[in-house]
Amino acid sequence: MPCTPRTTLSHAAAVAALALLAGSLPPPARAADTPEQAAPMALTTIMRELGKDMQGVTDGIAREDWPAVAQRAVRIADHPQPPLGEKLRILAFMGKDAGHFRDYDRQAHDAAQQLAQAAQRQDGSAAIAAFANVQGACLGCHQRFRKPFREHFHSQP
Ligand code: HEC
Repeated sequence: MPCTPRTTLSHAAAVAALALLAGSLPPPARAADTPEQAAPMALTTIMRELGKDMQGVTDGIAREDWPAVAQRAVRIADHPQPPLGEKLRILAFMGKDAGHFRDYDRQAHDAAQQLAQAAQRQDGSAAIAAFANVQGACLGCHQRFRKPFREHFHSQP
């Protein structure tokens, strides 16, 4: 059927309605959350620092440089938190899983404190055991949350 004025009109109306609708919606998550377009999330930066501090711990254990291990462990235990706005976005995204997310964070914190104490006693075996517990907390949270987190906030797996 040829395009009658009537169908053209309704088509135009549909386009106008869509444009209106789009205008009333919040911008898609991609525009705000893709790292190329927005500043990296504070959580991502915090994680990178945690990664560096964990490398510092293995290096310190290898050198039996216990003050260095203790210093890194304290940094891991007391890592900064994202600013409130970002924290609220993360917690909103986690929904009912937020408690598990916090549990992993607490586990990492407690194990890192034990690592710091073992290093202060220069107890290498206890330090290694505590280090394994820290890694277990990192891994546990990553296995459970990293992929959905990246899909949601970075539109990336
Ligand atoms: C409570 C949950 C949680 C814990 C505990 C946790 N992480 Fe993460 N980590 C995440 C999430 C979520 C991401 C994905 C962040 C992103 O892609 O922006 C991540 C990403 C990372 C990354 C990749 C960052 C990048 O450049 O993309 C590193 C490195 C990392 N974490 C290190 C650690 C280390 C080391 C520990 C333990 C000391 C740890 N994390 C503990 C949740 C956690």
